Amino acid sequence: MIQEKAAIMGRRQLSPGVYKYLLSSPGIARTAAAGQFVQVTAPGFFLRRPISICRIDPQAGTLVLVMEVRGQGTAAIAGLGSEDSLDLIGPLGHGFALKDAASHALCVGGGIGLPPLCQAAAHHGANAAVVAGFRSASAVILADEVENLGASFAVATDDGTAGHHGLVTDLVKKHLEENKTDVIYACGPMPMLKAVAALAKEKGVECQVSLEERMACGMGACLGCACALYDEKGEQHYGHVCKDGPVFPAERVVW
Ligand SMILES: Cc1cc2nc3c(=O)[nH]c(=O)nc-3n(C[C@H](O)[C@H](O)[C@H](O)COP(=O)(O)OP(=O)(O)OC[C@H]3O[C@@H](n4cnc5c(N)ncnc54)[C@H](O)[C@@H]3O)c2cc1C
Ligand code: FES
Repeated sequence: MIQEKAAIMGRRQLSPGVYKYLLSSPGIARTAAAGQFVQVTAPGFFLRRPISICRIDPQAGTLVLVMEVRGQGTAAIAGLGSEDSLDLIGPLGHGFALKDAASHALCVGGGIGLPPLCQAAAHHGANAAVVAGFRSASAVILADEVENLGASFAVATDDGTAGHHGLVTDLVKKHLEENKTDVIYACGPMPMLKAVAALAKEKGVECQVSLEERMACGMGACLGCACALYDEKGEQHYGHVCKDGPVFPAERVVW
């Protein structure tokens, strides 16, 4: 884990309030793995904001982050221009335990939960299928990026303005019925993750979920991001999303 000032090499708006950053961050890019995150300084705020790493290029020394403006801190970050830099600490947490690239992966994203799945999809390339749920067509992000990885991409929208009219879990169910699937990687709201975990269990497919909790330190010191987990004996205990996760085997999560 290191602290690095990452120059903003590119910044693009993907949808209302959602920005994609290409950052020069050679130190973090060298060791980062799919599903890990960085803590980003928000100008004027003491606490950093946790943002998942969307893409990693260790050769070029770059990272891609995708950030949605939710409150004051993310609004302050979004106000930075291309001449600025982002102060990062990372890579943090445990990411996805990636299966062999030849195995068939299903990546399931809910809204801003999609970015952390991109590096996992890149690992599996044409053997990855990505399904993602959004409010409406105007909120759909990263379609080109996912398709450029060689993965298939299908969306579900709440209002039916793009793709399947309904829940992303409808697409998960259909995919599991029609396609060989060795592993599911999922990130999004808790109800979506719970439903995906149940479908995976029903079909006997390994499932890894990336959880989100409010965070302060992001490295296990403040005990602010507690989550209830099962240990290997099936006994309940509390872990921390920032240090023990954010990615957990679905069967370890107390839903
Ligand atoms: C592991 C992880 C990865 C994430 N990856 C992304 C990502 O790739 N893209 C993205 O847009 N968002 C991501 N988030 C959510 C993002 O961290 C919050 O939207 C952001 O911290 C909100 O900050 P704010 O100042 O705008 O909001 P405020 O509500 O003003 O924040 C107040 C405080 O609460 C914390 N907080 C608020 N909401 C969250 C939250 N959902 N998760 C954690 N801390 C929160 C803030 O860090 C801050 O300390 C991630 C969260 C986690 C835990
Ligand atoms: S955010 Fe401090 S322990 Fe997880």
